[in-house]
Amino acid sequence: MTVTLKTLRKDEIEPVLPQLARLRISVFRDWPYLYDGSLDYEEKYLARYAKTPGAVIVGAFDDDVLIGAATGAPLDTELVEFRKPFTGHGLLPVEIFYLAESVLEPAYRGRGIGHGFFEAREAHARALGYQRAAFCAVLRPATHPARAAGYRPLDPFWTKRG
Ligand SMILES: CC(C)(COP(=O)(O)OP(=O)(O)OC[C@H]1O[C@@H](n2cnc3c(N)ncnc32)[C@H](O)[C@@H]1OP(=O)(O)O)[C@@H](O)C(=O)NCCC(=O)NCCS
Repeated sequence: MTVTLKTLRKDEIEPVLPQLARLRISVFRDWPYLYDGSLDYEEKYLARYAKTPGAVIVGAFDDDVLIGAATGAPLDTELVEFRKPFTGHGLLPVEIFYLAESVLEPAYRGRGIGHGFFEAREAHARALGYQRAAFCAVLRPATHPARAAGYRPLDPFWTKRG
């Protein structure tokens, strides 16, 4: 299988939103997210990326089919819930690029696409003049009954990338 990563900006974002909404719902249904999303909500949530200056979606395409994507936007354009933990610690959202989410269909994992998502978003952020990026992760107790057997946390991957 040949997968191509493409950095999508403003006008290129809108056409992929329905595919990205479906992908988010199916990937984030799993542990540790356990997220019960609806297409209507997802499309509204994601529509912000098409309208936000500096936002980016990196799409992973197998031919024309979107099989993965990663999003990002200047932190000062993000929802207050995302900004608050930074302002609460004296960090200025205007200086930070927020690496929002990465989703990839399970069949395509473990081939370096996740690294490609970070590299492409970091390159986009650097081109806009940012020197710092941040993201958040979902924390759940290790004893949670819905924890999938054999789940490998992504912390080593994130730590290795700095
Ligand atoms: C996060 C995600 C996009 C990573 O994509 P990926 O293409 O599989 O990642 P890569 O192949 O680039 O591998 C990244 C690292 O994770 C490790 N990894 C690979 N498969 C893994 C797995 N099943 N579980 C945990 N880590 C794995 C790799 O060993 C690699 O580490 P390395 O650099 O030390 O070799 C993908 O796992 C995913 O969609 N997960 C579900 C959604 C999610 O958790 N998103 C992140 C938060 S929004």
